[in-house]
Amino acid sequence: MTYMTFQNRQWLHDTSEVQDMPHGMLSKMEGAFLFYLCRDVYLGAGEIIDAGAFLGASAFCMAKGLERNDRITHKSGRLHSYDLFRVWQEEGESVEYMSDQLKKHFGISVADDESTFHVFFRNLGEYSRHIRIYPGDITQTKWSGRPIEILFNDVSKTLPIWRHVLRQFFPSLMPGISLVIQQDYHHPLLPWIHVVQEYLSPFFEVAESHVQDSAVFRLVERIPDRVLERISNYDFTLKDEIGMLDTAIKRLGDDSGHVALAKAVLLGRSRRYDEAKEILDAIKGLLPTTKDTKLNFSLFLASKAVTREEALHSALPAGFDERRYLEAHSDVAKAVQSGVFDSGYHHWLISGKYEGRSMGKSD
Ligand SMILES: C[S@@+](CC[C@H](N)C(=O)[O-])C[C@H]1O[C@@H](n2cnc3c(N)ncnc32)[C@H](O)[C@@H]1O
Repeated sequence: MTYMTFQNRQWLHDTSEVQDMPHGMLSKMEGAFLFYLCRDVYLGAGEIIDAGAFLGASAFCMAKGLERNDRITHKSGRLHSYDLFRVWQEEGESVEYMSDQLKKHFGISVADDESTFHVFFRNLGEYSRHIRIYPGDITQTKWSGRPIEILFNDVSKTLPIWRHVLRQFFPSLMPGISLVIQQDYHHPLLPWIHVVQEYLSPFFEVAESHVQDSAVFRLVERIPDRVLERISNYDFTLKDEIGMLDTAIKRLGDDSGHVALAKAVLLGRSRRYDEAKEILDAIKGLLPTTKDTKLNFSLFLASKAVTREEALHSALPAGFDERRYLEAHSDVAKAVQSGVFDSGYHHWLISGKYEGRSMGKSD
């Protein structure tokens, strides 16, 4: 099978094909990349996963590319879009905050847990025939096991979701063919993505290091079962995580700012505030000379996350570990995810300590 490489990198200078893409969280350049990928590169050897569809921007660009792909005859249902299609929660943010953001930036009101499905359908129009849609919590879905050729990951906003993506989709990737697009790679709040992607570096090559926020990886070697098992369980200590992030930072060199900020966020979440702040200061010092226009915003997000962690943990009893508390009590993790509690600590204060629940154990 011949694999078309990214030689001319058309998305860098021509976004005309996606001028009609719906408003969403992707830049035109990323949209153009997805379009060209599905039109010029996609072989049809496996399925296309759109994990985190939102209002349909990524799905639209990929479906439009698929529509224009003359080599593929069987197109119906090859693109699989997953989303809650309602307000979601991100690590450390409340449902109310997310609701406000959606109203402010997209003009959609989902305060009452209303569905956004109709917007997705409207935006996809004629292209929806190429798409199978999986509404609801992705962690409750099970992949068929069919081979996956393109995995677009824009959903792994929490560690349990990332674990699910790893467990369900990664075993179906095809060596020599499959591409994984990590839309949150140049972004500071989801360090678990960098940790695992770095751990998997013996099996992947970097196909494109930077398509704006995204980084693109091609699977070149079969991932052994024991490695798949380890990533599915996210079986990494804090020391392992820091080690992976340091390797990624070294590998990325001048382009490592967002990953360094991800490390600061991880350290902040692990109560190592001084080390986190050292990184934040170092990145601040780079701002006057960097060409990376998004680094400033990443710094803002990472600083906010570290400050919030410090404020939260200053009130915490010794021995309480937010992440491990949520890992130990999956019912609490679910309740936090659905917005019943702001955090594991919130649950522990109101209920957990009276129930005699373990507080989690610090590394
Ligand atoms: C950054 S947005 C995706 C943006 C989209 N790819 C685009 O092109 O505009 C992340 C999406 O992840 C979805 N999401 C978050 N948690 C989820 C979950 N547990 N199950 C399914 N989708 C989830 C959200 O609903 C949200 O639409």
